[in-house]
Amino acid sequence: MAALTRVSGSVGLISLLNPPVNALSAAVRQGIVDTVRRAVSDPQVKSVVICGQNGVFCGGADIKEFGGHMSGPPLVPIFNTIEAADKPVVAAIEGSALGGGLELALACHYRITQSKARLGLPEVSLGLLPAAGGTQRLPRLIGVPAALDLITTGRHLTGAEALKLGIVDQVTDQNTVEAAVKFALSIVGQSLESRRISTLPCPCPADIDAFFEGVMQRVKKSAHGAIAPVACVQAVQAAATLPFTQGMQREQELMATLFGSGQARALQYCFFSQRVVSKWSSPSGSRWDTSKPKPVTKVGVIGLGTMGRGITVALALAGLSVVAVETQQQQMMAAQHAVSGMLERTARRRGVSLVGDQIRYSVELEAVADVELVIEAVFEDMALKEKLFKQLSTLCKADTLLCSNTSSLDIDHLASQTHSPQLVVGMHFFAPAHVMKLLEVVYGPRSAPQAVATAMELGKRMGKVSVAVGNCSGFVGNRMLMPYVEEASFLVEEGASPEIVDRALEEFGFPMGVFRMSDLSGLDVGWKVRKARGLVEPGQMSRVRQGRRYSPLGDLLCEQGRFGQKTGRGWYLYDSAGSREAQPDPWLQSFLEEYRARQGLVSRRIDSQEVLERCLYALINEGFNILQEGIAAGPEDIDMIYVFGYGFPRHRGGPMFYASQVGLAQVLQRLEHYQQLHPDIPHLRPSSLLRRLVSSGSPRIQRWREIIRMPHSSL
Ligand code: NAI
Repeated sequence: MAALTRVSGSVGLISLLNPPVNALSAAVRQGIVDTVRRAVSDPQVKSVVICGQNGVFCGGADIKEFGGHMSGPPLVPIFNTIEAADKPVVAAIEGSALGGGLELALACHYRITQSKARLGLPEVSLGLLPAAGGTQRLPRLIGVPAALDLITTGRHLTGAEALKLGIVDQVTDQNTVEAAVKFALSIVGQSLESRRISTLPCPCPADIDAFFEGVMQRVKKSAHGAIAPVACVQAVQAAATLPFTQGMQREQELMATLFGSGQARALQYCFFSQRVVSKWSSPSGSRWDTSKPKPVTKVGVIGLGTMGRGITVALALAGLSVVAVETQQQQMMAAQHAVSGMLERTARRRGVSLVGDQIRYSVELEAVADVELVIEAVFEDMALKEKLFKQLSTLCKADTLLCSNTSSLDIDHLASQTHSPQLVVGMHFFAPAHVMKLLEVVYGPRSAPQAVATAMELGKRMGKVSVAVGNCSGFVGNRMLMPYVEEASFLVEEGASPEIVDRALEEFGFPMGVFRMSDLSGLDVGWKVRKARGLVEPGQMSRVRQGRRYSPLGDLLCEQGRFGQKTGRGWYLYDSAGSREAQPDPWLQSFLEEYRARQGLVSRRIDSQEVLERCLYALINEGFNILQEGIAAGPEDIDMIYVFGYGFPRHRGGPMFYASQVGLAQVLQRLEHYQQLHPDIPHLRPSSLLRRLVSSGSPRIQRWREIIRMPHSSL
């Protein structure tokens, strides 16, 4: 797991070997202990280079070890031994030095890195902190502000950026290990006093207390309730104010708190779930490992509105050639301008270079005749989409995949308009499509496995978290959103204000509550959907529609021209149209009072617990229905959709993981309680899958798939 060889006469070369990323498993740690001891005691070895085999230095801790009992030597004493060695130790960083990998490099006396290598301390994204001295050594090396930035965000740096910050001593485009060996030969005998980072003073800003107070406020605000970023600040504060040994103790204490927390479990669950969802399967038996994607180089995008523009940018950034079609001339010009601006800004931010002429614009649909895949993003209007799919099916090549970005319409119905329904799938992006990480790939009963595999692969090329889901109204994300949003409106009818509901949800960790979110996306969007479903009765206040509870509040606001931020008024009041600063609106308050009086509703006090339980458990309950119906293959699929597409706090793992942490019996009991109080709300009726899981002893979330597949009678 770690090998020692002597090279160039006197350099001890320690190579880590644990493919694919040389993670610091127990065996690798033992290997480092043994090889370092041998190198230090071998009189023929005058200096040491540590590198990783296969072009990767070290990807950090072995996350598979997190769940179980930790065995093998701990990292802290290993790193202290390396730093204390009286022979110079040089880290040769190729590929990546992340987490424990970078901490290992920081324990070495010198660091030489490949310019393209990635360095970082991403522990915070797993709900942890760099607990092998990373929070104590990095600030001593590069100063408190720069270290805080890296440790609290977990962001990665290139070798060149690391050089600028002073994390590494040399960057090379040549063979890194050879450069490090050459360097190691050149420094034999030099004093190592100033190279042991733990002995250095920590460069601090002038008014350190005020500095940390400001940082803490900022970090808490952007953490939305996540505790790891806060603990990272506390650990760096210890580096700035305490001697190294005491700082290390503080780092350990903070790590112990984080390690046992539900948040770390949730974040690690997210880490694994992201991989689980890429291994998709459908009830018809098609699977990721038996379905080969079709090669795609040229894609057509139809409709260059909000979504089409973002999709075009995402495709171009992934290196695909795009034919972008928009029928309205004026809209086309605006789109061309917007796309080139978005493309340039995003490419600059990501540091990628663009190939010129990658996008061809046209007002003629025939321009997509030779593409391999089309993504349709015209208005959400079934008649329009039907017509378009018929046309596309005739004018495109026989094997062209036809995809729709519809947010809720029936994919199978669209497929039925074409000559080859097996080539039709949904590719449901989220706005802004070049930024949001989620892609729902919607397969219909007739979609070919290859069509699903191709859309999933294309999503991957665009850097998306792609989740394959079945076809139903709203698919997974928007279908679950309905009961969540409806429950929020019911709560307002019963006595809550939009502010009370939003505050509870934002304190839970959502970046925005239901009402601020509706104001941002536009109240008219939902209004149009409800109209299409025959739910809207203009001017009517009836609270029962289609045989169930209905809140006409959103419709009544739209009838008043209150569409949210874009009109300066919605659930909140804004300084002007387009402004983002939401203020409580006194008009709304009296409107609600009058509304309740006319409905005969007696306003009551609603606390945040009721807000959370009714909104979230309604959402979760729909998630169980979706699992039961096979629309999502497993809870991980739902959770990744909610974390990456709907702002569900990642440190809570997603709605289904959250339910498992609350306890399924508790969720069931509260749903039963609310259903008794509100029998006219169908989405509060507990899902039969939830009941089955509870009656089978509320198994761990990783076992739900088994229970879902089990015939009911065997329980
Ligand atoms: P939009 O109204 O901004 O853009 C639609 C564009 O399609 C317009 O530029 C229009 O001129 C063009 N168009 C209409 N008929 C056309 C035709 N026959 N050929 C070529 N272009 C045509 O709409 P938006 O918001 O971009 O939505 C597009 C689709 O994406 C809809 O199905 C919507 O449900 C879905 N969607 C929207 C999201 C959003 O947040 N806006 C999120 C996810 C999906």
